[in-house]
Amino acid sequence: MTMEAAHRFPHKHLLSLEDLSRDDIGLVLSVAASLKEISTRSIKKVPTLRGKTVINLFFEPSTRTRLSFEIAAKRMSADTYNIAAATSSARKGESLVDTARNLAAMAPDVIVIRHACSGTPQLLTNHIDASVINAGDGAHEHPSQGLLDLMTVQEHKGRIAGLTVAIIGDIAHSRVAHSNIIGFTKMGARVRVAGPATLIPPGIARLGAQVCSTMHEAVDNADVVMALRIQTERQNESLVPSLREYARFFGISSRTIAAAKPDAIIMHPGPINRGVELDPALADGPRSVILEQVTNGVAVRMALLYLIMGGN
Ligand code: CP
Repeated sequence: MTMEAAHRFPHKHLLSLEDLSRDDIGLVLSVAASLKEISTRSIKKVPTLRGKTVINLFFEPSTRTRLSFEIAAKRMSADTYNIAAATSSARKGESLVDTARNLAAMAPDVIVIRHACSGTPQLLTNHIDASVINAGDGAHEHPSQGLLDLMTVQEHKGRIAGLTVAIIGDIAHSRVAHSNIIGFTKMGARVRVAGPATLIPPGIARLGAQVCSTMHEAVDNADVVMALRIQTERQNESLVPSLREYARFFGISSRTIAAAKPDAIIMHPGPINRGVELDPALADGPRSVILEQVTNGVAVRMALLYLIMGGN
């Protein structure tokens, strides 16, 4: 990897996949592919980001994303610090901007933030000098998840352009769906979405997705089938009659996956509600790439930290 790669990534922050060009995404994926090997070594560490400081500021629960950013930073030798809402002075009434400005006063290079409110990462960029990476903001976007999903598909299919990607479930509340629709269409794939009518937001077609009225229509001859978690924490009212009914019509099972291409891969961003959006046998079966998504999450976040901090 060369310094040229860092100079070609013209972004101080990562807020949305809308902001990245096709070339930017290609660069992240190629840098991630080259950094992935580091995690297979017996000593999983390179000095690339020594002396850099990354703060993970999480106002919502997370297993994969928070740990993945922490591992990614540590494998590049950056110093990392984690702060969760439950143990921060936000509990004492401090505003988000004040929290961020106080963290910024300790001179971090990057703040990785997850927050229930859409637009929070963008807001922080107006108040602090550090780079800001969006680790999921409300129902808006989860750009690093979109990038790791692109990387996983690229690895399995050797390309993204021309593929058909079916995204099934709670499209309305899913930041993962929004980032993936933007990312996959930008890279030349066709994206179809399906789910209960109450969970398909008006205007989703404007992002480039084809809205299908049945799951069969979405999955038919697809190369990639992605199930989404039902985001009950973002629903103010019950938008599906029952989880059992949801599973019956929109849960991905061996019967529904039969309509996809024989070599179609099954994805899920996690955490999975087993037996609701995805049959456990499929989640653990040979077509599932769910844990590979998690592995690639580390590589993608190493690449993002490298590119954003301009390491050499
Ligand atoms: N995919 C994802 O964002 O998982 P976490 O909520 O565990 O970070």
